[in-house]
Amino acid sequence: MKFETPATSNPIDQLKVIGKPADRVDGPLKTTGRAPYAYERHDVVSNPAYGYIVGSAIAKGRIGGIDSAAAKAAPGVRAIVTADNAGKLGKGERNAAKLLGGPEIEHYHQAIALVVADTFEQARAAAELLRVDYVKADGAAFDLAAVKDTGQPKPLFGGPADTARGDFSGAFAAAPVRFDATYTTPDQAHAMMEPHASIAVWNGDKLTLWTSNQMIDWGVGDVAKTLGIPKENVRLVSSFIGGGFGGKLFLRSDALLAALGARAVGRPVKVALQRPLMFNNTTHRPATIQRIRIGADRDGRITAIGHEEWCGNLPGGRPEGAVSQTRLLYAGANRMTATRLAALDLAEGNAMRAPGEASGMMALEIAIDEMAEKLGIDPIEFRIRNDTQIDPERPDRPFSQRQLTECFRTGAERFGWSKRDPQPGRARDGRWKIGIGTAAAFRNNLLVKSAARVRLDGNGMVTVETDMTDIGTGSYTIIAQTAAEMMGVPLEKVVVRLGDSSFPVSSGSGGQFGGNNSTAGVYAACVKLREAIAQKVGFNSAEAEFADGEVRAGNRRVPLAQAAADGALTAEDGIEYGDLDKKYQQSTFGAHFVEVGVDVATAEIRVRRMLAVCAAGRILNPKTARSQIIGAMTMGVGAALMEEMVVDKRAGFFVNHDLAGYEVPVHADIPHQDMIFLDETDPISSPMKAKGVAELGICGVAAAVANAVYNATGVRVRDYPITLDKLLEQMPDVG
Ligand code: MOS
Repeated sequence: MKFETPATSNPIDQLKVIGKPADRVDGPLKTTGRAPYAYERHDVVSNPAYGYIVGSAIAKGRIGGIDSAAAKAAPGVRAIVTADNAGKLGKGERNAAKLLGGPEIEHYHQAIALVVADTFEQARAAAELLRVDYVKADGAAFDLAAVKDTGQPKPLFGGPADTARGDFSGAFAAAPVRFDATYTTPDQAHAMMEPHASIAVWNGDKLTLWTSNQMIDWGVGDVAKTLGIPKENVRLVSSFIGGGFGGKLFLRSDALLAALGARAVGRPVKVALQRPLMFNNTTHRPATIQRIRIGADRDGRITAIGHEEWCGNLPGGRPEGAVSQTRLLYAGANRMTATRLAALDLAEGNAMRAPGEASGMMALEIAIDEMAEKLGIDPIEFRIRNDTQIDPERPDRPFSQRQLTECFRTGAERFGWSKRDPQPGRARDGRWKIGIGTAAAFRNNLLVKSAARVRLDGNGMVTVETDMTDIGTGSYTIIAQTAAEMMGVPLEKVVVRLGDSSFPVSSGSGGQFGGNNSTAGVYAACVKLREAIAQKVGFNSAEAEFADGEVRAGNRRVPLAQAAADGALTAEDGIEYGDLDKKYQQSTFGAHFVEVGVDVATAEIRVRRMLAVCAAGRILNPKTARSQIIGAMTMGVGAALMEEMVVDKRAGFFVNHDLAGYEVPVHADIPHQDMIFLDETDPISSPMKAKGVAELGICGVAAAVANAVYNATGVRVRDYPITLDKLLEQMPDVG
């Protein structure tokens, strides 16, 4: 089905099942420990051997030699796979560095060997016995600040490196009020609960990988390309995924090495990437340096806005894209954005929850707060004054829906914004200095084609199959709701099967596009199935109605089970998009509100209250969507106050590479969270009229925290994370 004109009314609009806060259909499996994650496929794989990954101890250079004699002789060892004996390997389209290094080493903890043994403990013990000679390369670059000026323009995901409109320099120079500041964001880790994990089984020349991967079709393609085998010979299965956040968008070393290990030993091999390797072996959200300049007239109308970003990556890697939202969020006739990417020899930087906007909003939304203060205008009023209903870089493109102002008005009322003291450092509650901050939320809505297969059987059950994944987001549930609504059956009559490359290719889970696109694909397949059913029972399909487990036309009604009594009916289709996303700018919007307390003596920061108000199209399931937003808000608190992979600038690696050293918020760090979805449907986005929500929730949170800390203390921190040492020296009461 091609979606080319705005959606008119359709069966989804009945909202009998869609839009309801249905419990997760996979909840019982998960809460009873029966949901099969990749490493736990005892149900389908027996007698596996265990692989243990060895990571490079240098960041750049080459391996002079590996002495594996002692390791080979260790108990239980079946094989040691290295680049020397793995055969010719290609590189996945989406991997900046090789997943099995050697002799060249491209980054620290790049995998250089897999030790395969009968037990995990034997593999780990033998790995300790490998003797590796390294030859370090000179001239490696690990310090972004030191190399930033060597950066080159490089296109973002979904946009050019640079954009310009009007005369930024002239307008900025002429502006009566000017603001110019530089912000930094650190390298961050996805730190998902389930590690990258895979079991590989070869059957002749056919490979099956039970793995943990957000994008099944990309994964199949890159496995085939890396191993040099046809795509048809690769099957990937990811039925359940314990978090991804972008870290599992791509083929990683666990899957490749499990496949190589299984081929070497002629037996199933399972590999879970050890937690201490994850931070330097896989991808991460890369650090940025961002300069923002804003010029405005005295009434607070932006006349010039400029955002420049510097970041680094391995050759073949992309920039972070932190300027993306500045192209779209606020009005202003004269504007520029620029992105410069330098070569860095750290592990690959790549997508992490809201790549681009999450980092960009951390800087932009502090800058907006600072500029509002300089103008003497309330920061919400300043944002509203510079709202726009058209793409400010391309005025021929309206936003399909844009309720940014409504998000702020609703949130201000609910949070009690009017009680905030705009003068920083005055509000107190005992030993706590109290501050309130706000920030916009913004993330684009992307259209990606997505297919599904649906089947009606003689019991009246509807089965949906698509290679869409559920990374903890609720895909199983919203897909079941979509099929139930379309076929007129209760949720219990729908079975959803996901994450298998033998199913039709979906959008996959990424870029907050999975919810809208994968359900739209299921919608398309259900439209076809409705036609097949109508035809089967002799109804005119335009008149057929599906409700209460029946198909009806005029005064005739046939139970669905009866329609499929002499054989299941199957339909397959997908959603494809025309150019609606070129005619309209599709984005999601929100407003974050945060109250913090800062200890007057120690500068300890505690978040006390949080509210997000979001406008993101039709909300398919308010319960699972809310979970996405509050989870993202939690991650935003981490970005604001805790998360930083510390770079060893001499040796070139992330030092705090485990969950003891890399801090993320825990329950005790997070107060009561509140969130509201504005009532919205977006007929431009798809027949579902929905948009993404999973990443919107993180965009802007960290800046709202930063602005609240400023309101509490009068200290402006422009380098994340905002740790107490950055406040202490400047807080007058401390000491
Ligand atoms: Mo998302 S960072 O595209 O999983």
